[in-house]
Amino acid sequence: MSDDWVDLGDAGALAQNSLQRALAQDVPVALSCVNGAFGAVHGACNHVGGPLGNGALEGDYIVCPWHQWKFHRQTGVGEPGFEADRVPAFPVKIENGRVLVNVKAATKRSKAPHKAHPLARAVSRAEGPVRVAGLSTTAMQKQAPRYSGSDHLLESALATARAQGCETQLIKLNQLQFRACEGFYSKAARACTWPCSITQMDDKDQLTPVYEALVHWADVVLIATPIRWGQASSLYFKMAERLNCVQNQVTTHNRVLIRNKVAGFIIVGGQDNVQGVAGQMLGFFAELGFHFPQFPYIAHSRGWSAEDMENNVAAVRDSKELHEGAGQLAVRAIELAKCLLASDPATVIERGGRKAHRLIDNLRPA
Ligand code: FES
Repeated sequence: MSDDWVDLGDAGALAQNSLQRALAQDVPVALSCVNGAFGAVHGACNHVGGPLGNGALEGDYIVCPWHQWKFHRQTGVGEPGFEADRVPAFPVKIENGRVLVNVKAATKRSKAPHKAHPLARAVSRAEGPVRVAGLSTTAMQKQAPRYSGSDHLLESALATARAQGCETQLIKLNQLQFRACEGFYSKAARACTWPCSITQMDDKDQLTPVYEALVHWADVVLIATPIRWGQASSLYFKMAERLNCVQNQVTTHNRVLIRNKVAGFIIVGGQDNVQGVAGQMLGFFAELGFHFPQFPYIAHSRGWSAEDMENNVAAVRDSKELHEGAGQLAVRAIELAKCLLASDPATVIERGGRKAHRLIDNLRPA
C-alpha cells in the first residue's frame, strides 16, 4: 500500500453507518456508504465549515447539518444548480476488507461567488445628524390596534429627538413577520452567522430593518416594552434571541459590530417588576456593545393591586411628567451619542477577561 492511501478501518463495520465522520491523517472526511458503495469527500462544508460527516444523506447528496447546503457524496459537487460549489472528493477503495482513501489525490475545492447579504457590508457611520431609532416591542391585533402606553411614550421620545435636530425612525415589531431563532448557535458557535442564518436563507423573514437600524443606521436606540408577567414582552425576547448573531460575532470572530452607540429603555406595566425588566434589558444591550446614559430607562407601573388597566391607560396617556420624562431620556441618550461620536473611544476593544479570552496583544506575534 502506497503511503498516499490511508486505512480508515474495517469495511463491514464502516458500512453500518450510511454517513459518518472519519479522520485520514489530519484531514476530516465525510465517509458515506450506500448499498455497499463507499464515497469520501472532505468533511468541511464550503459555506462556513460545517461538519459534513455529521449531516444527513438525501439520495446521493450529503446535507450539511448547519445550513443544509448539499454536496454529492462521491464527487463532492454541489446539488443541481450549484455545481460550481464543490468540496474535495477522495478516491476510495476496499482492500483486504479495509476501507482506504487517498487524500493526496483529492479533487480541488471550488467556491462559487455568492453575493454577500447587504447587512454584511462594513459598519461605517454615514455623515449626518444623530440618528435615533425607536423600537416598539408590544404585541397587538393588527386589525384592531389598541392604545399602548409604551408606544405612546416612545413616540414622545422620538418627537423630542426630532426637535433636537435628529433623524428618527420608528420600527414596530408587531408589523414585522419574523421567525424565532432556531438554535444555530446550539449546533456550534460558528453555525450562528452574521448576518443571521435565517435572514440569509429566508428572504421572507422581515427582521432586516431591525438589524439595519441597530448595526448600521442608528446612533441611539430607544426600546419600548410593556411588562408581561414581570418580564419584557414576548416580541422583545423573540427579537433578542435573533440578536444573538450580533453578540456572537465577538465570540467567534473577535468582531464588535456595535460601537459608539447608545441604548435607552421605556418600560410600562400595569403591574410591577420594572427593575427586573430593566436589568435584563440593560444586561442584554450591554452585551451587544451599547453604552447607556445616566439613568438609562424611564418606567411606569401602578402596582400589584391595581387591576384597573383602563385607569392605567389614562394615567400614562395623560401624564405630562411621563411624556416629558420620555423626552428627557432621548435628550440624555443623544448627548451621550454626541460625546461618543466626537471622541470615538472604541477604535480598539480588548476582548480579554470578559469570557477568559486572551488579550489582543497576546494574540500578536512577539
Ligand atoms: S451549510 Fe454547511 S456550514 Fe453552512
